[in-house]
Amino acid sequence: MKKIALLTSGGDAPGMNAAIRAVVRSGIYYGMEVFGIERGYAGLIEGNVIPMEMRSVSNIVQCGGTKLRSARCMEMLTVEGQKKAVDTLEKYGIEGLVVIGGDGSFRGAEVLSRDYGVPTIGIPGTIDNDLAYTDYTLGFDTAVNTCLDIINKLRDTMTSHERVSVVEVMGRRCGDIALYSGIASGAEIIVVPEIAFDMNEIIAKINRSRAHGKHSTLIVVAEGVMGAEEFAKRLQAGTEHDVRPTCIGHVQRGGSPSMSDRMLAAQFGNKAIRLLNDGVGNRVVGIRDNKIIDMDIIEAVSMKKEFNYELYETLQMISM
Ligand code: F6P
Repeated sequence: MKKIALLTSGGDAPGMNAAIRAVVRSGIYYGMEVFGIERGYAGLIEGNVIPMEMRSVSNIVQCGGTKLRSARCMEMLTVEGQKKAVDTLEKYGIEGLVVIGGDGSFRGAEVLSRDYGVPTIGIPGTIDNDLAYTDYTLGFDTAVNTCLDIINKLRDTMTSHERVSVVEVMGRRCGDIALYSGIASGAEIIVVPEIAFDMNEIIAKINRSRAHGKHSTLIVVAEGVMGAEEFAKRLQAGTEHDVRPTCIGHVQRGGSPSMSDRMLAAQFGNKAIRLLNDGVGNRVVGIRDNKIIDMDIIEAVSMKKEFNYELYETLQMISM
C-alpha cells in the first residue's frame, strides 16, 4: 500500500494529535505517501485533503484537540455522501484509510470497508470509553484526570460550607467517566446510566455519612442519567443539606494528553500502519489485558459494552 489517508471524526479527545503523529511518521517509515483529511468525514466528502510530511506533525504530541479538526457528519449516513467520500479517495489514489474516532466514526469506517472495499483501520478515540472491544479508548484517562482536578477544587469549598456537591461528567450513555472519576476522587456516591437509582436511598446514604462525621458529600452523576441542575433540584427537595450542582462540560474534552493516552496513541497509530502495510484492512486496534490488539471492525462495533459492576461495588464498600 503506497498511499494512505487519516482523519479524526466525532467528538475530539486528548491524544488524537499524538495518534496523528504516530500514523503519519509510521506511514512515512514504511515509504507511504500520507494524506490528512480535514474535518472528518465532512472533509472527506468535500475533498479537504492535505499532504502530511514528517514536519507536519512536529510539536503536537503534547497538544489536546485535533490538528486535522473534527466534525459529526450526517451526510456520511447517506449512500450519496458515502459515494462522494469514495470519489475523493479515488481522486487522490488513496488505497487505505485510518479513522480516529468513536462508535459513530467506526460505523462510517465499517461502511467504507464492507460496501466499498476500502481497507480501513479504526483507532478508538473518544473520552467516553464506551467501546466494548477495548479496555481503554484514547482520551479517557486524560478526561478523568481533568475531572479529578476540578473535583479536588470543588471539595475544598464544599467541605468549608458542609454542602452536597453534585458533579455532572460526560460519557454519553456510558458511566465509565463517572465510575473512574468517582472512585479516584473519593466520591460518596456515583450515579450511572447502567444502574437504576433511588433518590431516597441516596438521601439515606448522605445522612449515614454525615452521622459518621463527614462534613460534605460528593455525588458524581453521569450525563446519561440526567443533568446536574435537575439532579440537584430533585435531591434538594428531599434534604435539609445545602446542594450545589456543577457541570464540568467540555473542559473535560480538552487539555494536554496524559502519559497513558500518549502511549496508547503511539501504539495504536503504529499498529494501524503495520496492519495497512501488511495489506490488512477492515480492522480496529485496541488494548486488552495490557496488550495491543486488533479485531474485525464489524465484530467490534457489534459488541455490547459491559459495565464493571465489581468497581461499582468497590466504591460502595470504601466510600463511607
Ligand atoms: O463523545 C464525546 C462527548 O463528549 C460525549 O461525552 C458527549 O455526550 C458529547 O460528546 C458531546 O457532544 P458535543 O461536543 O457535540 O456537544
